[in-house]
Amino acid sequence: MSYELPKLGDYSLATLDRAFEKLIDDIDSEAAPIPGSKSAREAQADVKVFRDRWLARKSGIITQVTEKWLKESPSEEKKEVGLRLNRLKKHAEGMVEVLEKRILLMSAPVATVTATHSLAIESSSDEQLKRIREQEQLRQAVDVSLPGTRRKLGVEHPLIRTKNDILSVFKAMGYSVAEGPEVETDYYNFESLNFPPNHPARDTQDTLIIANQQKKPLRDRLLLRTHTSPVQIRVMEKQAPPVRVIVPGKVHRADTADATHSPIFHQIEGLAVDINITFCDLKGTLDQWAKLMFGSSVKTRFYPSFFPFTEPSADMQISCFKCGGSGRLDGQRCGLCKASGWIEILGSGMVDPNVFGFVGYDAKKYSGFAFGMGVERIAILKYGVDDIQLFYQGDVRFLEQFA
Ligand code: PHE
Repeated sequence: MSYELPKLGDYSLATLDRAFEKLIDDIDSEAAPIPGSKSAREAQADVKVFRDRWLARKSGIITQVTEKWLKESPSEEKKEVGLRLNRLKKHAEGMVEVLEKRILLMSAPVATVTATHSLAIESSSDEQLKRIREQEQLRQAVDVSLPGTRRKLGVEHPLIRTKNDILSVFKAMGYSVAEGPEVETDYYNFESLNFPPNHPARDTQDTLIIANQQKKPLRDRLLLRTHTSPVQIRVMEKQAPPVRVIVPGKVHRADTADATHSPIFHQIEGLAVDINITFCDLKGTLDQWAKLMFGSSVKTRFYPSFFPFTEPSADMQISCFKCGGSGRLDGQRCGLCKASGWIEILGSGMVDPNVFGFVGYDAKKYSGFAFGMGVERIAILKYGVDDIQLFYQGDVRFLEQFA
């Protein structure tokens, strides 16, 4: 589309102003629809057409203005025409820059095309062009409007959470936390806990023993502790009664890993020693713990068991918190308690007087109770986990369910 440059009737300032204003209006209205809904590449082509049409050296409209209006003007008006011609040229050049900026912003991330940008590119004044340039520099330096890199928040591992839940109940009852080594001697793991030398738990089938220690006396040989009970001895060796300790820790047994077994698992041990500690204290303490852990309607029951280091010994069961102890759930047998209404939770007993003999406590003066439970077992029951291995595999699909 060629441009009909009108003839100037006269060179009065008013005529000049009107004529140049018309050109500026034409520049603006031709530039307005660029880029429209076109792609950046198509828009780029439009800008080239626009630039050639107005600014091409040989036949551009500005050149025509120079030829026709400036050169043909009487010499006394040349200054006024030239002034306006310069302004017109600047306006056309500025507009090309604005259009290029618009295209650049098209390919920038959406979030960077802010209201300020769009406002600024609507106008072509030098001041605003400067602002666009500054904003562009800023954008390239650091774009604070881009979404950041989100780091997912971690949560406590279900075993750690279960451990902490158990510990916090006993801490509230006045127990302090004690810990002991995972590599133990035969003395702490067995002998001082009243295990006779031929006790089946000492069998290498169950106990992982450190190799090449045949030269040492049995009591000094190292093994991986099979339970947290040796810490009972270590605590009592260090302090006189009264004792109230709760002992979390990792234990090891030569078991093959499957859905219900792991060669490494976790226990929590409890020990209370004082004058006048009775089996009632044991029952009351553990019943209170069970209610806080599984719900206040849970009942407990104790039935005879055997551990070398407690006498009498008792396993504690809780009434099934899923079926309410009835053994039936929605007309079917309850899978959690296997329809029995009861779930076995831990081993316990009154500290055997022989154990007090090993640590130099006066068994005539003091009595105590002890208990031990598996953290995995409690977590499996509480969270309805059907495979113990899930705790060790680090699979986020499992772990994020505890978030
Ligand atoms: N140590 C025992 C076990 O591992 C549990 C227990 C601890 C029993 C304390 C009684 C008292 O099976």
